[in-house]
Amino acid sequence: MSHSSIKKIAVCTGGGDAPGLNAVIRAASLAALNLGWECYGIRDGFNGLLLPEQYIEGGLIRLTRERVRGITHLGGTIIGTTNRNSPLEFPITDGDGTIHYIDRSDELIRMFRMHHLDALISIGGDGSLAIASILAQKGLRVIGVPKTIDNDLDRTVVTFGFETAVAFATDCLDRLHSTAASHGRVMVVEVMGRYAGWIALNAGVSGSADVILIPEIPYDIQKVADKIKEREERGNNFSIVMVAEGAHAKGGTTMIKEKTVGHAERLGGVGEKVARDLTELTGKETRTVVLGHLLRGGSPNAYDRLIALRFGAAAVRALHEGQSGIMVALDPPTVNYVPLDEATRRMKSVPLDCDTILTGRDLGICFGD
Ligand code: F6P
Repeated sequence: MSHSSIKKIAVCTGGGDAPGLNAVIRAASLAALNLGWECYGIRDGFNGLLLPEQYIEGGLIRLTRERVRGITHLGGTIIGTTNRNSPLEFPITDGDGTIHYIDRSDELIRMFRMHHLDALISIGGDGSLAIASILAQKGLRVIGVPKTIDNDLDRTVVTFGFETAVAFATDCLDRLHSTAASHGRVMVVEVMGRYAGWIALNAGVSGSADVILIPEIPYDIQKVADKIKEREERGNNFSIVMVAEGAHAKGGTTMIKEKTVGHAERLGGVGEKVARDLTELTGKETRTVVLGHLLRGGSPNAYDRLIALRFGAAAVRALHEGQSGIMVALDPPTVNYVPLDEATRRMKSVPLDCDTILTGRDLGICFGD
């Protein structure tokens, strides 16, 4: 299909939400409308096409100028999202309640044809973009847009949503400093990020944490306790410990809360564990704060709005140029295109020799090693 044959496109948001989703939707919709195309939002990931009976008003939302007006600054996604019901492992419940997982990707592509949707802009993280890559290989015209507060997608300098999450976590560290100091306590702050420590690292350094524990550096809790004691000896009777949800002790494993087929495992609980261990080792009063979904909610900051708008517009430009099977990516100062399968091949971890870790070490922050 040549780009000139595009008349109607769909946008979908998959996986956990992130600040900036609506900005991408607005930019993609307006750019498409300005080319004379129609633009539709698929509700709740692909549920709008795979479970249309769930939606009284239909599983597709027509994204008109009116519908996307005034949404750039809004958190969440106006078309909904889900991190369940992957078309590749779609859950089907039998009469006896047993759940089976089946591949509905071919059927999904038929649904696109049935609705005369010529292309898809898939806004998502590693899971959603891996699905997008397979749909592209099966012949659907697809452009990916990198979203996640975790910033763990390879081949883009940054994903939208990350900076807003870091800014919020930093603000929380500022607030926790005064209460920690007043009570002479150890405050342990657990943040999201899955198997990458980007949020913990960037917010921890920006917010002057005393300790930062990330999945990339397995920690020795005794080293953390020593750091807290050393601070005490210097007259600092409080400490702030930033912990990524994927952090784990040397020789230990990541703490998983829930694991189900067709759904990424839920992490969490390491903050409580670190706090318990530190109380035992230091004798100090310790409290845990889990920032969790607060990091995902609320308005995108100006940085995230701008890259989200740039990504959405670039995705439509890519379609107009006849591209498919690619992800738009930030490669400062420009937005470029990278193959979708390369973007999802490996996770982007924090490099141990990166400048931010070196800076943290120079400042005397303990990384638990
Ligand atoms: O990938 C984004 C993310 O927010 C992770 O940081 C976190 O582990 C996960 O999603 C939580 O997802 P949910 O609670 O929505 O299942």
